Amino acid sequence: MKVSVIGAGNVGATCANVLAQKEVANEIVLLDIKENLAEGKALDMWETSPIWPFGSRVKGVTNDYSATKDSDVVVITSGLPRKPGMSRDDLISTNAGIVKSVTENVVKHSPNTIIIIVSNPLDVMSYAAYLESKFPANRVFGQAGVLDTARYRAFLAEELDVNPKDIQALLMGGHGDTMVPLPRYTTVAGIPVTQMIDKEKLDAIIERTKKGGGEIVNLLGTSAWYAPGAAAAQMVESVVRDQKRIFPCCAMLNGEYGLKDLYIGVPVKLGKNGIEEIIEVELNSEERAFLDHSAGAVKEVMGVLDSMALF
Ligand code: NAI
Ligand code: 2OP
Repeated sequence: MKVSVIGAGNVGATCANVLAQKEVANEIVLLDIKENLAEGKALDMWETSPIWPFGSRVKGVTNDYSATKDSDVVVITSGLPRKPGMSRDDLISTNAGIVKSVTENVVKHSPNTIIIIVSNPLDVMSYAAYLESKFPANRVFGQAGVLDTARYRAFLAEELDVNPKDIQALLMGGHGDTMVPLPRYTTVAGIPVTQMIDKEKLDAIIERTKKGGGEIVNLLGTSAWYAPGAAAAQMVESVVRDQKRIFPCCAMLNGEYGLKDLYIGVPVKLGKNGIEEIIEVELNSEERAFLDHSAGAVKEVMGVLDSMALF
């Protein structure tokens, strides 16, 4: 199996490192436009192989897409990250062009690959990659929900003083402040979370989750990378190993949840064909209203993409 990661910055390098440590693929290619960045990081990672140990061969290249030829999965992380005061949506003018040109090169060399988008604004960049690749939608999707639910689960584990492994949760909607964490679908070892925490504390955790990306930006001056990189790697693993895990992912909807022609976070099954099923859970009227509000926010950013006339 071969996985390429485009963008050897914070998120891309972390994703490649996790993939190597877990031996998810025997060949991992890291590509960046910045001279020698991917080569240097890949070499450093490869030199950790005897220590962990792992056998995945990690290679880095500068903008040489021939090295990514016939990748089974490509993760696209190239693009600007947020700085304090910026929203993810502020990145569209730069990142749309980057995602378009990167996708064009990826498709040229790996026409049968599965593409996982990480670049922000995530929902609209996933849509841009779908338009550029002309792949079926099951082979182009985005990482957001694995990260956002991980944050939600980590905050809950801390509050309840339990192991985060025991917290299962679902979150839907766009990757932004309008995301929709779903307490009704959150359990602690099978116990509904609402039986273990009072409403005020749960609401505070939901609010913290929605602003989880901004919390890190304010601490670091740039956006997060450990959890985003690990989240993308977990999605790659489910595809490469055909694990059929169910994750909230940014997927193209074609009537599911009453929504059409947009990418947004929903629960999906990930296996060797990419998205193998979009799972439609029952939503009450309040949850439904939150999802529709989030879809409206994603559509606004899609309007900005349309006005750029790139496709
Ligand atoms: P970074 O600045 O550390 O890395 C981005 C890399 O992309 C840089 O090394 C840059 O040289 C490279 N790059 C730029 N244009 C390129 C091109 N045309 N071809 C190849 N490489 C190119 O940024 P970081 O922190 O890794 O974030 C990357 C992206 O991921 C940002 O857009 C950020 O907002 C997004 N992000 C998304 C998350 C999610 O949950 N979906 C979470 C965290 C970040
Ligand atoms: C995050 O949620 C900025 O999308 C990035 O950390």
